[in-house]
Amino acid sequence: MDGSTREINCDLVTDDCRRCRSADTRSTRNLAPRGARGVARALLGGRTRRALRAPHGASMTTIGTTQNTPAAKPTTPPGYRLGDPTLARSPVTLDELDLLRGTLLMGDDDLVHLRLAGEVVRDQIEDILDVWYGFVGANPHLVRYFSNLSDGKPNAEYLARVRARFGQWIVDTTNARYDQAWLDYQHEVGLRHRKPGKNATDGVASVPHIPLRYVLAFVMPLSATMTPFLAKKGHPPETVAKMRDAWTKAVLLTAILWSEPYVKDGEF
Ligand code: HEM
Repeated sequence: MDGSTREINCDLVTDDCRRCRSADTRSTRNLAPRGARGVARALLGGRTRRALRAPHGASMTTIGTTQNTPAAKPTTPPGYRLGDPTLARSPVTLDELDLLRGTLLMGDDDLVHLRLAGEVVRDQIEDILDVWYGFVGANPHLVRYFSNLSDGKPNAEYLARVRARFGQWIVDTTNARYDQAWLDYQHEVGLRHRKPGKNATDGVASVPHIPLRYVLAFVMPLSATMTPFLAKKGHPPETVAKMRDAWTKAVLLTAILWSEPYVKDGEF
């Protein structure tokens, strides 16, 4: 383990990382639903791999990169704006965010296990995205939100650009500081799932709005499919379960925040 991961300040990470590094991750691809990888590749025309960067330039920026290695100089996907000071401020306050986290029973132990989950999955992100894109690709009622208005066909470039930000989101979610910058970007991403914000970042002419019901329902596949990846590095089942719980809470928290722009004024 390099020095950077120690800065996460998590004993579990330090201890378990040795196992993480020696584990074989190749067979994870077999976890994709039957035919899903083919669909994903057909949609994308091959995978895009990008260096993933955690935000804010401090110790936690090292997840997914190796410090002091020029080749690992971080890049961010096009359209990614976490930490951009010109973003609109979230209508949700930090105090309200704290209350929300408390309501989700998200405690310090969850944060420890969320950080550990980030370490465990950081070399599996493309495999995870294969599974999620496979799920979307296998469901016409979902893939239509990536389709061209003109011909109804999936827009491969749109899929690829969003995929890169989706990978970054996994890193950011396991690494979240729940500060103002993070909160503001949740507001932005919520706006990007509905009209008029959808499609603008990538300049595409696609379906203009994703119904809130699917955004909320999507928490389940994003949570359930994570378990095999979290178990991949040989952690005890109870640790895997804690990582899964922490991940589920973190995804649910983002989906709740992303629902704010959908809700009538004053009713969020
Ligand atoms: C828990 C639910 C969901 C999560 C966590 C999630 C995650 C994400 C992320 C991380 C991005 C990129 C954000 C960025 O621009 O930085 C994104 C964008 C997008 N997602 Fe979702 N998503 C969810 C639900 C859905 C559903 C149900 C659909 C329907 C297929 C969908 C379709 C899209 C599309 C089309 C974009 C691009 C929006 C744009 O034009 O900017 N998402 N999503």
